[in-house]
Amino acid sequence: MKAEILTALREAEGYVSGQQLCQRFGVSRTAVWKAINQLKKEGYAIEAVQNRGYRITDTPDILSEDELRSIRRTAWVGEKIYYYEATDSTNIRANRLAEEGAPHGTLVVADAQDAGRGRRGRGWDSSSGTSVYMTLLLKPDIDAANASMLTLVAAMAVAEGIRRVSGLNAQIKWPNDIVINGKKVCGILTEMSAQMDYVNHIVIGIGINVHNESFPEDIARTATSLLMESGGEHFHRAQLIEAVWEAFEGYYERYLATQDLRDLRNAYDAGLVNLGERVRVLDPKEPYEGVAQGITDRGELIVDKDGTRTLVSSGEVSVRGIYGYV
Ligand code: BTN
Repeated sequence: MKAEILTALREAEGYVSGQQLCQRFGVSRTAVWKAINQLKKEGYAIEAVQNRGYRITDTPDILSEDELRSIRRTAWVGEKIYYYEATDSTNIRANRLAEEGAPHGTLVVADAQDAGRGRRGRGWDSSSGTSVYMTLLLKPDIDAANASMLTLVAAMAVAEGIRRVSGLNAQIKWPNDIVINGKKVCGILTEMSAQMDYVNHIVIGIGINVHNESFPEDIARTATSLLMESGGEHFHRAQLIEAVWEAFEGYYERYLATQDLRDLRNAYDAGLVNLGERVRVLDPKEPYEGVAQGITDRGELIVDKDGTRTLVSSGEVSVRGIYGYV
């Protein structure tokens, strides 16, 4: 009921009386009073005025299942939410939940991870109170060969969510890193469980640096956070999560219609930090340089190498700017 009370308080113009809340949720005044007190303990600033009722005056950056449910606007993402103060990895959790029968759209969110996973077998530093760590479980009816494009769909959604909530110019470094002013603010790790041609499930894990004030020396040159790029603003993580999945639902629908990116290509390219830039393709056989021209319908990066069009597939090789990460 706490989530519903939060929604009611936020929707209201002014005060909401205890009576209104009792009637709306069919509970006693004591139950409402108890729930309000719990919310206050969790950090919500709720004013109680005699004969008028309750009014929410401030929502700090609280991450909890109630908070996420109370601001949820998505149609199907997060119908089921699992929130953990700490877990091993939201991707590991989501994979486990999938095997236990959790439905399509289940969202796993954590405040901290002690075995956060990055791409290429690396770890993902996941301390508490600083970042967004979340994983979406999908059980789509798609061809396994088309699944890898979902990671580009997720990148578009994260970039849009960040732009909407912070106003910062979040761009995509092909295929799926999100950068602001040339530094990485988000990483995405998509994993699939499939048999030959049948997709059991896919998990899309997203880590966004929000309140970090600094980074360990080995990544300090290439990593950033929303706080660092905004000159010290603290953005609300639950709102950011909501904005990302709202954007995702729209893009996902367009992806699903064709199971490729033909309808999303232009929008993806518009957010591509590498577009028209010289890049270095770290092909293990022979690295080369060229100019990035955008993506194909299947999400490959088109690189113009001395007048010859080459296509780079994600997962096979990485691409860097010629002067560094971007
Ligand atoms: C990368 O290396 O760029 C991808 C990092 C992905 C990190 C996120 S945090 C939430 C989810 N759970 C994990 O263990 N990893 C992903």
